[in-house]
Amino acid sequence: MAENYASFNIRWLLMDSAVRMKALVLSGGKGTRLRPLTFTCAKQLIPVANKPILGYVLDQVAATGIKEVGVIIASETGNYVKEYVKDGSEWHFNVTYIPQEPLGLAHAVKTAQPFLAQDSFIMCLGDNVTGQGLKTFIQRFQKEHLDALIILKEVDDPSNFGIAQLDDKGNIVRLVEKPKTPMGNLAIIGTYLFSSKIHQAIERIKPSWRGELEITDAIQEMINLGFTVKAEILDSWWLDTGKKDDILSANAKILDEYIEREVKGKVTNSSIEGRVKIDSEAKILNSTIRGPCVIGKNTLVQNSFVGPYSSIGDNSQILNSNLEYCVILENVVINDVEHLQDSLIGKNAKVMKNQKNRTIRLHIGDYSEVEV
Ligand code: DAU
Repeated sequence: MAENYASFNIRWLLMDSAVRMKALVLSGGKGTRLRPLTFTCAKQLIPVANKPILGYVLDQVAATGIKEVGVIIASETGNYVKEYVKDGSEWHFNVTYIPQEPLGLAHAVKTAQPFLAQDSFIMCLGDNVTGQGLKTFIQRFQKEHLDALIILKEVDDPSNFGIAQLDDKGNIVRLVEKPKTPMGNLAIIGTYLFSSKIHQAIERIKPSWRGELEITDAIQEMINLGFTVKAEILDSWWLDTGKKDDILSANAKILDEYIEREVKGKVTNSSIEGRVKIDSEAKILNSTIRGPCVIGKNTLVQNSFVGPYSSIGDNSQILNSNLEYCVILENVVINDVEHLQDSLIGKNAKVMKNQKNRTIRLHIGDYSEVEV
């Protein structure tokens, strides 16, 4: 009985201080690797399973009970982010927007210092999704009175990430941002917990070869200064949606994990197989839809096959076509296309067969990629 009471008290204290922590969500940056989509949209707003990636991140922040959330935005895309997040009331927290020039993750923390004040905080990259909530990290961070807790995951391509080297006991020995010659395969994922001591470390670092103030260097500096920095290896999946193929994998993963069968739209003379979510006012005519997939509001699928791992946005038309493993945004027309696969199609785009001859005719924006 006494033990139960004690553990109840500890849980209560943890929850209370979790509420007192702040969150910093990074939704700025340039998004160059996702052009041309990022000319008209922040990369964190690209939808997977018809919901912006940032929405999944904010859901996880909201689930911790944290009430003060700073959102880093860039001048080019900040208004799109504001339009989506608004005042945060959808997630039951308060939002402070923090404009930042994209000069690195540690620069984002530095810019947010007036908002963060002397509070501990959890920092989440707005384009990274994991299959695990944030609560257990917060509990460990607080229970062990850490100055930093970083979360790691094994990757196949360590040169593309910040990499941590651990000793036999799991303590961090060294951290390097995107090493040319990796000293391991444990990548730093987009979730970090910091005490206010991070600000001292950031004051001491210099921009890296790519001209950015790297958070990896700041954490290394915390270790050099003797602060308590620990690492934890993530026990679930993690997706960094920085490039086209990452968006397609994230879409597949989210469809796999979360989509339940729910048919709201009108289905005529069609076969709807498995976990398929069809939004209101969508029309499916003479077609086969095979889950897991989602079809957005007011979208028409006619004489077509929509295969597994596809997400089709609102107000689109899929006519006389076959597609699978695709992410298609809003207001798109796909007409007479024999087989579309592994594709990411931006808003208001049209993909059609040339009815007259076999010549390929293109009208595509800067930085587009077409495989013919
Ligand atoms: O995805 C995990 C990786 O994220 C870590 O392994 C690396 O150590 C870390 O540096 C970071 O690397 P990236 O090169 O992938 O970061 P990226 O430039 O894509 O920025 C990550 C997010 O932060 C993205 O949503 C944009 C935002 N951002 C980025 C910068 C540079 C900002 O809000 N401000 C910035 O100045």
